[in-house]
Parts: sequence; structure tokens; C-alpha cells
Amino acid sequence: MRKGVMRPGHVQIRVLDVEEALTHYRDLLGLIEMDRDDQGRVYLKGWTEVDKFSVVLREADTAGMDFMGFKVLDNDTLSGLEQELRDRGLGVEEIPAGELNSCGRRVRFQAPSGHHFELYAEKEQTGKWGLSKVNPEAWPRDLKGMKATRFDHCLLYGTDVMATYELFRDVLGFDLAEQVVDPEGNKAAVFLTASMKAHDIAFIECPEPGKFHHASFFLETWEDVLRAADLISMTDTSLDIGPTRHGLTHGKTIYFFDPSGNRSEVFCGGDYHYPDHEPVTWKAEDLGKAIFYHDRVLNERFLSVLT
Ligand code: FE2
Repeated sequence: MRKGVMRPGHVQIRVLDVEEALTHYRDLLGLIEMDRDDQGRVYLKGWTEVDKFSVVLREADTAGMDFMGFKVLDNDTLSGLEQELRDRGLGVEEIPAGELNSCGRRVRFQAPSGHHFELYAEKEQTGKWGLSKVNPEAWPRDLKGMKATRFDHCLLYGTDVMATYELFRDVLGFDLAEQVVDPEGNKAAVFLTASMKAHDIAFIECPEPGKFHHASFFLETWEDVLRAADLISMTDTSLDIGPTRHGLTHGKTIYFFDPSGNRSEVFCGGDYHYPDHEPVTWKAEDLGKAIFYHDRVLNERFLSVLT
């Protein structure tokens, strides 16, 4: 049952050198630099996003994800969900408004997977970048690189996928859109949605908690994915795999790495989900086809390269 979680709102990614990272997130992906703060963090967004930012880059000694935030409907929803998290026995940290520039109060918790998540209700809305709110043109003309339209989802590797799934289902109101099930019937991976999208967040079981697999950004067309592949070659960017299609969600995709080793994805298309849809199930023994529909085998990097 939906509980007022609207969408992935932001992800804070650790990078080894923030200026070098901007050549990836701003110049190659085409995210728009929106702000910087006194901690040296840089705030970016895809051009179609109405809120002020969705990606925050923080310079650190190790790569990875600090946290992912979901925007909820309003402050009453936020308070209600905060109470439900506390009732479930989770440690909840309150982060005051303004700790991230232009963002309201945040409620942070750690999932059994080891990842930190937060909920918030308010963020400054600056509107779609480069477009008027009245009679908007089709797209802004001065976009860079892959022209990523929005931050779409993260795939995370961590411990106790089942308990993490139950938390997202019972407290946050996510639906299970797709799953990978092993021969014993255990969930090896879950693709969860709070919307009509094929996934807003996904988890794969892994012995190590809190690992980051990728942050993903939406493109409009398969031609855009091909063009992204061209740009990856033109810029000598480290490629993981693609362009190809996923079995899971059926999105058309390409994976590549930022200069710190964090994986990025751009993709287009894919399935949709309504709350009455039964979950789609993939067998763990067919994981190759589930992940890479054409090759039908996983490359070693996809399983082992995490930050
Ligand atoms: Fe993805």
C-alpha cells in the first residue's frame, strides 16, 4: 500500500576529486551544476527535474554512496513515516533543514542492507532547467554530453535483502515490481517501486553491507543510449558493458565508471508498474539473461566491482 513516498529525490556520492568528478557528472552525463556549499559539496540535477538538485558530490578518501533520499508528499507524511520507523525499532537521525542547501528537515535511517536512507518533504523547486514554466519549449538548447534527463534509481548491494524489502514494503509502501529468486525460494534481488516506474530502488544480496553498485539516469531514446556510448569512447571513459538490454525491467542500458570508480548507468525504456501488478520473477540460475538479455552471461565486473 502506498504511503506517500513520491520518488528518489537525491543521492550523495563520494568522489576522490570533486573537480575531476564534475567532468563525468556535469560534462559527460550532462547534469546541471546548481549549487555548492561550505563543505565543498557540489549539487547537480537532470534538466527535467523540478526540484533544485538530485545528485550531491562529496570529496572523500573512498568512493561510494553516503545516502539516498526519498521525497515524501508533505510534512505530515514525513512525521508519520518517522514514527513508523521508530516503532519498528530503527535508529532514526534527524537532520535539520539547511544541512543540505535548499532542503528541508530530513529523517535518516539505516536499512538492514547497511545503506543509509533519508526521507524529506521539502526542497526548493527551481523548475525544469532552462525552460519557462509558461509555454515551455521542448528542451533547453545548451545541454551538455548525454543530456541526462533525471536521476532515476540506485542499485545497491548489501546484507539481508529480505528484511530490507520488508522495511520498504511495510513502512515505506514500496511495491515489489521484480525479483530474483534462488532455487530455495529466497529473494536474491528485489526491484522496488513507489511509482509507476519499473524500479525506484533495487537491492542485490551480498555478504558485505552498504555497497554501491550504480546510480542511474534516464535518457529518452535508444538513439540517446547509442550516442552516450559514442561519448564514452570519445572521452576515453571506462566502460562496464553495453549498450544492451536488461531482462529485468527490460530497460535499454549502458554502464560506465566515474573517475573514482563509482558506476553510472544511463538507460531508456523499460516496463511500468501499477500497484495491482504481480511481481515479475527471474530465476537466479538465469541471472545472466535477467541482467544482460542479449549476452545472457554476467561479466565478472558487474558482480564484483562495487564502491
Ligand atoms: Fe539500473
